[in-house]
Amino acid sequence: MNIINCKNIVRDLEMQMADMNHSKVFVLTDEGSEKHCTAFLDKVSFDFQSIVLKDGDEHKSLDALASVWEFMTKNGADRESLLINLGGGMITDLGGFAASTFKRGVYFINIPTTLLAMVDAAVGGKTGINFCGFKNEIGAIIHADAVMIDTTFLKTLDEDNVLSGYAEMLKHGLISKTDHFTDLLKFDWRNINYEVLNQLVMDSNMVKQGIVEEDPYEKGIRKALNLGHTIAHAFETHAMKTGQALLHGRAVAIGIIPELFLSFQKLQFPSDVMRQVIHEVKDLYQPFFFSCDDYDTLFDYVKHDKKNSGDRINFTLLSGLGQVQINQHCSKEEIFAALDFYRDEMGI
Ligand SMILES: NC(=O)c1ccc[n+]([C@@H]2O[C@H](COP(=O)([O-])OP(=O)(O)OC[C@H]3O[C@@H](n4cnc5c(N)ncnc54)[C@H](O)[C@@H]3O)[C@@H](O)[C@H]2O)c1
Ligand SMILES: [Zn+2]
Repeated sequence: MNIINCKNIVRDLEMQMADMNHSKVFVLTDEGSEKHCTAFLDKVSFDFQSIVLKDGDEHKSLDALASVWEFMTKNGADRESLLINLGGGMITDLGGFAASTFKRGVYFINIPTTLLAMVDAAVGGKTGINFCGFKNEIGAIIHADAVMIDTTFLKTLDEDNVLSGYAEMLKHGLISKTDHFTDLLKFDWRNINYEVLNQLVMDSNMVKQGIVEEDPYEKGIRKALNLGHTIAHAFETHAMKTGQALLHGRAVAIGIIPELFLSFQKLQFPSDVMRQVIHEVKDLYQPFFFSCDDYDTLFDYVKHDKKNSGDRINFTLLSGLGQVQINQHCSKEEIFAALDFYRDEMGI
């Protein structure tokens, strides 16, 4: 994987492009990333055409994808064209898929501008769109020709989106054998030091890269990246159906707590580390409200998770920091106990 920690985005991007035999250049953004992250494009020496989508995951859609293909077709894109995806995960997911399918694949570079995209969405090759009410229903695994990381873009990102990205970093800290977890807990998110953050972003990104390189198609260890996500996806579906706002990363931060409790109960995950995570999540994230009347509904959503096989509900759990145990079966009773635990801890 070609991942560059940019010191000078204009120079670094032009150096990457010099190594490609590309023709026309297209830059894909959404309204938010266009507003906050395109100033550097005034200084580049290449010509390009801009495509701007509307913000929000509801626009990670077939219509928006078709509008990108249509723009490229009408503006002379050929098989050697280059699409630069400049934005959060919505843009890198949709843009990566657009590039990989247009004329069976053109060059593409991801320039992630949100924390979540820098540490997660823009790396690892998963691309796609939402379809028929299902998240990421259509897509492909295809790697960007380069991912350019410039953490100065994060200076304009709002707190909710910063914390959304942090949840994925926390997950990387828990599943890795490095000091990433300890380093993250020392970081002050209320008074961000951008130099330190740059190092943390690159470390987090390395955790994901390492796992993806070992298992690109999620046959085994890549499932480590699903820690916290089985319950998070159930919360996200519940939030969507009940009209509550819940960013993906916040759902992951919340989902990590019951899943660490399952790890503690079933695999002796150390309770002191679980306590540290609970303290961090309580300190930074608003709790997600639900009652025991919602357990059956949440359980139904858990049953629909992509990671299950047949009737077996599979979780990725931990037996210790960095000790990942995939395909861990959990019963309905165990899951309900974990939901009880979350509510008790949050006092809801
Ligand atoms: N492919 C993967 O492996 C993977 C992994 C995790 C998430 N995802 C996907 O990523 C998407 C979520 O990505 P996201 O959290 O980056 O959200 P997002 O792309 O929707 O961006 C969030 C908001 O921030 C704005 N924005 C972007 N950069 C900004 C900046 N520097 N300053 C100010 N505002 C800025 C955007 O315009 C948008 O309004 C979801 O679709 C999710 O499914 C994909
Ligand atoms: Zn995630």
